[in-house]
Amino acid sequence: MRALDKLWQALDERLELDPIVEFIRHKVVPTHRHSWAYYFGGLTLFFFFVQVSTGILLLLYYRPTAEAAFESVQFIVTRVPFGWLVRSIHSWSANLMILSAFAHMFSVYFMGSYAKPRELTWWSGVALLGLAMGFGFSGYLLPWNTLSFFATRVGTDMVSLVPFVGGWLLKFLRGGSEVTGATLTRFFGFHVAVLPMLTTLLLGFHLALIQRQGMHVPASLEEEAKRRKPIRFVPNFMMREGVVWLLGLAALAALAAFFPWELGTKADPFGSAPAGIKPEWYFLFVFETLKLLPAHIFGIEGELIGLGAFAAGGLVWFLVPILDRGRPGGGRGRTFFVLGWLVLAYIVGFTFASFAGVFK
Ligand code: HEM
Repeated sequence: MRALDKLWQALDERLELDPIVEFIRHKVVPTHRHSWAYYFGGLTLFFFFVQVSTGILLLLYYRPTAEAAFESVQFIVTRVPFGWLVRSIHSWSANLMILSAFAHMFSVYFMGSYAKPRELTWWSGVALLGLAMGFGFSGYLLPWNTLSFFATRVGTDMVSLVPFVGGWLLKFLRGGSEVTGATLTRFFGFHVAVLPMLTTLLLGFHLALIQRQGMHVPASLEEEAKRRKPIRFVPNFMMREGVVWLLGLAALAALAAFFPWELGTKADPFGSAPAGIKPEWYFLFVFETLKLLPAHIFGIEGELIGLGAFAAGGLVWFLVPILDRGRPGGGRGRTFFVLGWLVLAYIVGFTFASFAGVFK
């Protein structure tokens, strides 16, 4: 114990740790009937940590070439001790992380936490969700199996619709005009270097803002939060968050062990695409909407109009902190409250309908 005290003293003399200790000692989290929503950001963070650690383990054996990728993943799941489990956890955790990020986004949205002074937290959050989906899209191709190959072909085809720069964007993503080994190498680079670096930086920014500003209390709950005592961040909130992480781990372990992630068959670029090819679930609402549109609307390609509408919708969502001017007495505006429910119902509705095979 004395040795620990001495070590602390030595570090404190050099780094002046006192202000940090004071900050941690005084940091509190408000309590009210919607305090449960404060746990989703942390849960997303937990899944991100799982992604980084299992991703590093997979990297020890994975080979990013069209010739060897599929075989290297096959080797991981059949020969490497616990390799199947690590791969299964990585794939399941990717999905749970995106699910949890969506839950986090909608919960902060409905609490109106994007309002001044938290605009930057919202904007960095939207960017983080985009990066998380980029992780999913780039990682999907890496096993180089039939499904991922053709889904990537369909997915990257979409960017060619972008006016003026579409052709260039397509080549940039694919490393040529077709999905080949060059695309795989590129996606691998995005997946293990570019996206992790950007995510780490943005996440650091997101978390620093939250530390600086503290948790937001919705206007309608301010009275209640004043009446109820806030809880200390260390150790009370951290221990509760720890329980949430354990629940996340339990769900992850059960899914990964009982439903091991499948590998399928090796991609054959010259083979024909299997029927009913679909992207990952978090792109389904976009995919199904685009499929519903007629080939041409007023002489313009239907899919182009659809993509334009999604881009405009995404921009409105991004700009919500500026567009929502709130209500005179405080609290967020009604219009945006209703808009949030419409967006949520649309995403959930289309995703489930797609799973149920409503769209043929
Ligand atoms: C990789 C993804 C993300 C991680 C790891 C993450 C992490 C966190 C954490 C730990 C918190 C504090 C606890 C909480 O309120 O839950 C938080 C707060 C917040 N996040 Fe995120 N977040 C992510 C994505 C997002 C997204 C997609 C949005 C919205 C578009 C967002 C917007 C916010 C806002 C506005 C707050 C402040 C909430 C408040 O003050 O009450 N975040 N985030």
